[in-house]
Amino acid sequence: MLWTERVLTFEVLPELLKSIKSEGLHAAVTEHLVQTREHGPRLEEVFRAVGAEPSSNLSPPAEKLAQHHDELAGSIPDERLADVFHAAAAAATEHLELAMYEAVLGLADSVDLGGARTFLERNRDEEAEALKRVQSELERLAGELRG
Ligand SMILES: [Fe+2]
Repeated sequence: MLWTERVLTFEVLPELLKSIKSEGLHAAVTEHLVQTREHGPRLEEVFRAVGAEPSSNLSPPAEKLAQHHDELAGSIPDERLADVFHAAAAAATEHLELAMYEAVLGLADSVDLGGARTFLERNRDEEAEALKRVQSELERLAGELRG
């Protein structure tokens, strides 16, 4: 999870931003990139609280989503359709991250994280907020495409 946040922060989101043409979607992803920069340090606090070492693997589903996006994005000739695709990929990633945080928070019920639990909750809340935002952009962009 920590590795996933780092890869999203330093690789996936900056690359995605280069492809996005829509101002609204660009702003939504940029704001979430700023939030995501805080997710890694918060997760490091959680690992410290439980005395565990984070693994350096991107989660397989997150890796597959990023691969799928990268393989198909370049073959979409229409910029407006490509933005719909970028928004859908962003929404899929936020759904995944939200599910991961919900699962970890469920597991954390049986572990005393002390104050570190709030770090997980803040990350989860920001993922939920980002999901709503990109979902709204996805609906708006798809609506514009339909005319
Ligand atoms: Fe996210």
